[in-house]
Amino acid sequence: MKLTFPVTRTTHPKQRPTDESQLGFARYFTDHMFVMDYDEGQGWHDGRVVPHEPILIEPASCVLHYAQMMFEGMKAYRRPDGTIQLFRPDMNAKRMVRTNERMCIPELPEEILISGIEAVVREDADWVPSAPGTSLYIRPFIFGDEVSFSVLPAKHYRFMIILSPTGSYYAGNDKGLQTTRIYVEDEYIRAATGGTGYAKVGGNYGGGMRASKNAIANQCKDVLWLDAREHKYVEEIGTSNAFFRINDEVITAPLDSGTILPGITRDSVIQLLKRWGIKVSERRLSIDDICAAAEDGSLKEIFASGTAAVISPIGTLNYKGKDYTVADGKVGEVAQRLYDDLYGMQTGKVEDYMGWTYPLDIKVN
Ligand code: COI
Repeated sequence: MKLTFPVTRTTHPKQRPTDESQLGFARYFTDHMFVMDYDEGQGWHDGRVVPHEPILIEPASCVLHYAQMMFEGMKAYRRPDGTIQLFRPDMNAKRMVRTNERMCIPELPEEILISGIEAVVREDADWVPSAPGTSLYIRPFIFGDEVSFSVLPAKHYRFMIILSPTGSYYAGNDKGLQTTRIYVEDEYIRAATGGTGYAKVGGNYGGGMRASKNAIANQCKDVLWLDAREHKYVEEIGTSNAFFRINDEVITAPLDSGTILPGITRDSVIQLLKRWGIKVSERRLSIDDICAAAEDGSLKEIFASGTAAVISPIGTLNYKGKDYTVADGKVGEVAQRLYDDLYGMQTGKVEDYMGWTYPLDIKVN
C-alpha cells in the first residue's frame, strides 16, 4: 500500500553541482528531506517532506550519549527514458527490521520506508544525476531522541531520509573502474559474535575509524577486517563486503558468525555469479591463504561490493607492512562484468534479467 505525506517545499533551492563527474560521495545534499516521529503508545506518525535544513536536538537526547540509532544505504537511478528507479528496496526494508530488532528500535514497516523514499525523491527528482558512475544516494536513518541518560531504549524516535547526488565512493572510479589499495587491520576488530556486526548501526563505523587512520597512514583507501577471535579470517572491508577469486572460485565470508553485514550488493553478486556458472562459496578464508595465493599467482581478483562502493576492485593488500599485489594489479574480469551488469541494470541500460529494479512513478526530462 502506498502512503502519501504532506509536502512543504523549500523557498531557498540550493545551487546544484555543475559538473556531475566531480560529485564525489555525499558531498552535496538535495533541497528536501523526509521526517517522521515515533512515540510510545502512538507508533510512527506525522510523516512529512520538508526542506533539508539543520534540525534541533536536545543535548541530553539519548542518541548523542548512547548511540541508539540505525541507518540504511540505497540509491535511486535515472533510466535513459527519464524514469527513476530503486534497486531491491524490499531487501533494505527487511535488513532494517533486523537492525531495529537488535537495537531495540521500533519496527518500521516496509510501506513507510518505500513511500517515504518515493515522496522525497519525487520532490528532488531532477537532482538524480545521469553521468556515468553517478546515482542519488538515499540515506534513511532512525535515532532515539528521548531526553534520558538511562541506558534503556528510548520512547521517542525520529526517522529521516536525506538524499545526495553522488559519484563513486572511492574517488577515481567515475572514470571507469580503477583498483584500490586496502590495509589489512590486524590489531583492532570491527565485530564479534553476539555484537552488532550484522546490523547497520553507526557504532560499527565509529569504532572502525581508528583502523581507517592506520589505512590512510599506509596510503590505503580502506580497511580489510579480520575476525575478532583469531585475527586470522577475512571478514569485510570498511564500507563493503569483500570477495576473493582464487583460481576459479570466488569466496566471501559467511553470514553465520553474525559479524558480517548482509549486503544487498553482496547477495546480488552471489546470485549473478551462480547464474553465470561461476563457482561462488560463502566460507571462511584466512589472510595467510590469500597472501600465499598472491605470491603463487592463484589470487586472480579481490573486489568490494556495496551500495556506496558498487563493485570496487582491489589491486593491492597491505598486510603487516608488506604489499601483496592482486594478479597484475589491474581490474579483474569478474569485477568488471559484475559492475557492467549491476550498474547497467540499475540505470536501465542493461535489461533487468533478475527482476531487481523497482521503478517509481516519477519521470524527469
Ligand atoms: C552503503 O554502502 O550504503 C554504506 O552504508 C556504506 C557507508 C558506510 C559509506
